[in-house]
Amino acid sequence: MNPFKAFLIDEKEGRSQGAFVTMNEAQLDAGEVTIKVAFSSVNYKDALAATGAGRIIRRFPCVGGIDLSGIVEKSADPRFRPGDPVLATSFDIGVAHHGGYAEFARLPADWVRPLPVGLSLHEAMALGTAGFTAALAIVRMEENGLAPEKGPVIVNGASGGVGSLAVDMLAGLGYRVTALTGKESESDYLKGLGASEVMLRSTLDLSRIRPLDKMLWAGAVDNLGGDVLSWIASTMKQAGTIASIGMAASHALSTTVMPFILRGVSLLGVDSGYIREPHRSLVWDRLASDLRPRHLREMTRTIRFDDLPGVFDDFLKGNAHGRTVVELAGA
Ligand SMILES: NC(=O)c1ccc[n+]([C@@H]2O[C@H](COP(=O)([O-])OP(=O)(O)OC[C@H]3O[C@@H](n4cnc5c(N)ncnc54)[C@H](OP(=O)(O)O)[C@@H]3O)[C@@H](O)[C@H]2O)c1
Repeated sequence: MNPFKAFLIDEKEGRSQGAFVTMNEAQLDAGEVTIKVAFSSVNYKDALAATGAGRIIRRFPCVGGIDLSGIVEKSADPRFRPGDPVLATSFDIGVAHHGGYAEFARLPADWVRPLPVGLSLHEAMALGTAGFTAALAIVRMEENGLAPEKGPVIVNGASGGVGSLAVDMLAGLGYRVTALTGKESESDYLKGLGASEVMLRSTLDLSRIRPLDKMLWAGAVDNLGGDVLSWIASTMKQAGTIASIGMAASHALSTTVMPFILRGVSLLGVDSGYIREPHRSLVWDRLASDLRPRHLREMTRTIRFDDLPGVFDDFLKGNAHGRTVVELAGA
């Protein structure tokens, strides 16, 4: 397996910078399972990490890529054997432990999971952290009482990875989904994923958000934070549930306690990184069954490893469209 290609993120003059390098096995981090990486993916977090636009990397240098799928090369853990197809997301992968943007990865066995029956290595990365997070949000909202008959669900950042997957999964479960997007050009795409309605962010007057406004949503998947989340909070129906996933627009939140007290609204924090069992297995099992997106192929593009540095800018500018899979060895 020596030597192999990796996209390594290092800190130079106080700023993160990623570059292709050649590595060898001895440079990989400690772990019981060595994996020949077939595919990785690009998430918003990967773009922040690789470019230094966000302080994501906690240990320099670090191979980027918070997701990977591949074939076990060797294993010191009895749960895995050479030749097993596996996937890995979350924990310290790609932020404090060498990640998926390399032809090989070595990970603690507890971070690795067998490829769910029914998913290919490519599909596992078309889902990746984005799919895991969208599904986790749905599972947690359902545990909090959300059901299709309770009313519509709004998804913002809808044309991005988490957003596209959430729209598809919710529509597939029978929810009436409103996709909120910044891009008019994505309307047909979002309707094709199953959105009943597409709303443009530019039509919202975020300068005058009332503490309580007309009740519209039984559920909400929030990828943005900031004023859009404030507006969503004030427009939730009685006992509605918001899954707070991302802060692509802002980490700030200005609201009142009124929606939470007078309407019994819940604001659920969704952390895909460190959520443990039983959620982790439950979510992957559902991703391979009833939450399996119906339009995964249409929302996914596959890029060559060499082309990785050229795609980060789109994510940083809010121009991400669906999911991006990175082909390393392929399948
Ligand atoms: N909590 C967790 O465990 C977890 C896990 C995964 C992701 N996340 C977070 O969830 C969010 C979405 O992740 P993703 O991977 O789906 O991202 P993505 O593919 O880059 O999509 C983000 C989408 O958000 C919208 N957006 C609006 N303002 C934006 C801005 N200023 N910058 C970037 N995007 C903007 C855009 O869609 P529209 O134009 O359609 O609005 C964009 O396509 C991110 O904040 C990410 O960090 C959290």
